[in-house]
Amino acid sequence: MIRIDSVTKRYPDGTVAVDRLSLEIPDRSITVLVGPSGCGKTTTLRMINRMVEPSEGTILLDGKDIQQQPVNTLRRSMGYVIQNAGLFQHRTILDNIATVPRLLGWGKEKSRARARELMERVGLDGALAKRYPYQLSGGQQQRVGVARALAADPPVLLMDEPFSAVDPVVRKGLQDELLRIQEELGKTIVFVTHDIDEAVKLGTMVAVMRTGGRLAQFAPPAELLTDPADSFVEDFLGTDRGIRRLSFFPSAGLELLTAPIVASDTTDEQIAARDLTDAPYLLVTDLDGKPLGWAERDTEIDTARLLPYGRPFVVATDSLRAALDCAVLSPTGWAVAVDGEGRAAGVVSQQTIGEAIRGAHAKSATTQKAAR
Ligand SMILES: Nc1ncnc2c1ncn2[C@@H]1O[C@H](COP(=O)(O)OP(=O)(O)O)[C@@H](O)[C@H]1O
Ligand SMILES: [Mg+2]
Repeated sequence: MIRIDSVTKRYPDGTVAVDRLSLEIPDRSITVLVGPSGCGKTTTLRMINRMVEPSEGTILLDGKDIQQQPVNTLRRSMGYVIQNAGLFQHRTILDNIATVPRLLGWGKEKSRARARELMERVGLDGALAKRYPYQLSGGQQQRVGVARALAADPPVLLMDEPFSAVDPVVRKGLQDELLRIQEELGKTIVFVTHDIDEAVKLGTMVAVMRTGGRLAQFAPPAELLTDPADSFVEDFLGTDRGIRRLSFFPSAGLELLTAPIVASDTTDEQIAARDLTDAPYLLVTDLDGKPLGWAERDTEIDTARLLPYGRPFVVATDSLRAALDCAVLSPTGWAVAVDGEGRAAGVVSQQTIGEAIRGAHAKSATTQKAAR
């Protein structure tokens, strides 16, 4: 565990970049430092690997004061990733990634083998190995930066706005990749960003910092969205935090109706035998169970004239937010739930989703009270 204990950083010109900051950064998870520009995120991150020394306070790594450790040993245990990747422009991708193993005295072949393994790990095509950084896209360069930081297998990764310079689609890919890598490798990651959505998506714990280098709130993202500590955090979280919070509730508990699902070969008698009191629409599927569209109940089904079913949600993996979104976008106000293969698993109304949301809010309010 990394423990930041009442740390202050005053730069020689008098700027207080970080002010009595205390944080316990748990192992094998992603802790995000988020806040407006200039609030001391980079300074905090750099104090962890001693690129910046604190003016007051201590930082402990696994119980030991990092001041008491040789800087080189400390940095070897911490990979560092920055915006625009900071790659060596005159070295190939493979040699960039192999940099730290080479510095540690590994042989050329072993270092390169390790670099190839990491290219695969971060989703880079092996064919890029011999290229130079300028021959790669921004997103690919960022992956190289992550691979290079992982090369010597450090337990800790420090990442300073690593994805801030790439476009939103590439950025989402990089974020998903980081979550996957974290799950596979169990690194302790300290991730700096100014983007609250990125913080909420990636963080197991999120530290919101305010200008002047003070901690505003340190909490899991769902708690941040439910219970912002003050108006600064609330404003920083932005609008629709109620909706965003729904991403933390699974859709798996929703009560789905299956009676309104009819395959295109279902007969009128079979339909008549079903209890459809609560269902004004029928979801028509093909013979494989994949949705085709909605038909009004009590009218002749014409597969050529169905209402579009919109985007379905996946019961096992999607959240209440996804389910609500599907219902809101659906022309019938009903959302379609599908299984992993895209077969209709049930339908659910906005009203039922609304009830599930109220239930989830009530449940989380009680658990939070109990935790205090
Ligand atoms: N080397 C330095 N000398 C003086 N002031 C600095 C130095 N580095 C950063 N600062 C100041 O410290 C504050 C925090 O900076 P920084 O940690 O880079 O913030 P962030 O990463 O959150 O944008 C800012 O006011 C910045 O101008
Ligand atoms: Mg910064």
